[in-house]
Amino acid sequence: MKDLSVCRQQFPSLYRMTENGEPLIYLDGPGGSQVPYSVIGAISEYYTRHNANTHGQFVTSQESDQIIAQARSDVKAFLGSGADGSISFGQNMTTLNFLLSQAIGATLQPGDEIIVTDLDHDSNVAPWIALENRGIIIRRVPVTVAGTLNLDEFEHLFSNRTRLVAVGWASNAVGTVNPLDTIRQWTKDVGSLFLVDAVHWAPHGPIDVSRLQPDFLLCSAYKFFGPHIGILYSAPGRLDALPTLRVRPQVPVAPEKIETGTLNHAALAGVSAAIRFIASLTDDPTGDLREQIHGAMQNIYGYEHKLAKRLYDGLRAIPEITIYGPPVNQADRAPTISFTVHGQSSEQVARKLGQRGVLVWDGDFYAMTLVDQLGIRDQGGLVRLGLAPYNTAEEIERTINVVTEVAHGA
Ligand SMILES: Cc1ncc(COP(=O)(O)O)c(C=O)c1O
Repeated sequence: MKDLSVCRQQFPSLYRMTENGEPLIYLDGPGGSQVPYSVIGAISEYYTRHNANTHGQFVTSQESDQIIAQARSDVKAFLGSGADGSISFGQNMTTLNFLLSQAIGATLQPGDEIIVTDLDHDSNVAPWIALENRGIIIRRVPVTVAGTLNLDEFEHLFSNRTRLVAVGWASNAVGTVNPLDTIRQWTKDVGSLFLVDAVHWAPHGPIDVSRLQPDFLLCSAYKFFGPHIGILYSAPGRLDALPTLRVRPQVPVAPEKIETGTLNHAALAGVSAAIRFIASLTDDPTGDLREQIHGAMQNIYGYEHKLAKRLYDGLRAIPEITIYGPPVNQADRAPTISFTVHGQSSEQVARKLGQRGVLVWDGDFYAMTLVDQLGIRDQGGLVRLGLAPYNTAEEIERTINVVTEVAHGA
């Protein structure tokens, strides 16, 4: 598998050292990845040369229009969408999902049902629960002790009142990848909408909306080397049919009709640069942008998976550690490994790792119900290690050593 870690030279933050002169190990990617020079440069270039509002009769405004159009086109290629008008932007995924849920809620009747899951980040649960006050019934898919969706119960939650299923592509807490093709078929069988939270998956593997055919799919550019921008894909016609909240002069059709206020133009320049950075990790630069992205995402998946497997095996050999989520040798899994250490809170463990220059997250990462179901709330939830293409095999060995010392009480 191709070693992608050479790309780390493009990330200025990775040159930071601990007080002891060792490089920091960034395993905090699930909370937001590091950013390459090209993205930083594109944002800086926007403010240096192009800064203006849109739809003006002068050069910087026209360039801003062009930058926004380019970002929509690049995200289309990133997600495999062939449809103009399918890509909307917003402050972040959570805000877009709330705007969407309010608009969809206005089209539903009391007694209509929405299915959410106990595995999901709350940003794909709370926006739907918020519709309960309109008489919408929320059905919840339980999780198994393995950190996977209980598919038997899932299938039984469908009824002729099911109007929408909101499900994550991959768990940001334990790395589970959900069987979206099966779930998509179930939604088709009852004619319900299918909404996918792809925030955690987007940095780690290919997305092809033209094959999966979600009605809506959301992701967030700061998880894939870009700035803080939320992204919404809507299948053709879906957004046009919704009464979104908007000011009266706002364009009343997709993709603009859910974009409240002025977009973050500089960040959108960064989104394009992030996608082009990803594309540069392909083996075959002769293809079009979509082909390059697809090749790159396969490389990223393979490289991260190899590191994740070594990390998983190394952590599993530490007797004090319990790892959650599906085994890493299973093909379909995000490279996100979470665990608890017997006798220590996850906060303590994360702090000790942080003091030794290994940057990891602890807590529930807003996958609150999962952490409750796993019975580890009192321990402070999970310690989470997330991989990125800029991580190296050496970093994984150093991390296993440091976690071993910490687990042994050091
Ligand atoms: C799986 C998942 N969904 C949604 C979100 C929320 O994304 P945003 O911060 O863009 O609102 C996150 C953020 O961590 C996430 O991991």
